[in-house]
Amino acid sequence: MKVLIHDSAEAAVAAIANRIVEKVIAKPACVLGLATGGTVEPVYDAMVQKYDQQKVSYSRIRTFNLDEYVGLSPDHPMSYHHFMEKHLFGRTDISASNTSIPFGNAANPAEEAKRYEAEIKRCGGIDCQLLGVGENGHIGFNEPTSSLSSTVRIKTLAPETVRANSRYFQRIEDVPRLSITMGIGTILCAREIVLIATGDNKSKAVLEMIEGPLSARCPASALQLHPHAEIYLDAAAASQLTLRDYYEAVHPNGKVES
Ligand code: F6R
Repeated sequence: MKVLIHDSAEAAVAAIANRIVEKVIAKPACVLGLATGGTVEPVYDAMVQKYDQQKVSYSRIRTFNLDEYVGLSPDHPMSYHHFMEKHLFGRTDISASNTSIPFGNAANPAEEAKRYEAEIKRCGGIDCQLLGVGENGHIGFNEPTSSLSSTVRIKTLAPETVRANSRYFQRIEDVPRLSITMGIGTILCAREIVLIATGDNKSKAVLEMIEGPLSARCPASALQLHPHAEIYLDAAAASQLTLRDYYEAVHPNGKVES
């Protein structure tokens, strides 16, 4: 695990976006795993900016999102389909037919989960998976006590996730309680993982993710098992790490060799 600590959230965002763009330039038809949420919004803004500056084309990439709310159709304003269209897909040359997000409104969500896992495999697996992390240590919607080898399936949102995500809905009662999410096993199959966490409110999850123990209590701690995981942090998210001097000595200013 490479722990990359930046002075500010802006610097962490720029670094992770540059890393993703580098990967697309190196392999234009790469398969990217994508996330939603407040933390990745500026990452997508930075990726769009690179596209606007004609530094990269996303026309050949294939994408798979981590998750979707059960019950929301793709055109629902709170769906992750809508989020992706608004923040990334609709602002670049990504071809709609090259993007996949689980269908939350599928007649049989359990079947949809199986179909989604198979579709990822059929495309050769994910080259690089972008992640955020929840305050409770979740990745995707894999809440605490999720199986560390889980595949795409239906998961119930933890009460703290319902509360956190209610900021996007009119009323907390409107937040769907179920999701279709890649499993932790699905995420660990990605050939590379890049995760971003910013802000004080993520510092406990970041501590548990990086310094352990490895435990289903903190699903993100499963990334300790991954051979190519890079964790992009700002100073606030890194504030509880006990080995911070070590991480900063290995990667001064969050720099990572290509
Ligand atoms: C959503 C997802 C979630 C978020 C996490 C952090 O696709 O994967 O795990 O990354 O809930 O969300 P924010 O960035 O809003 O704090």
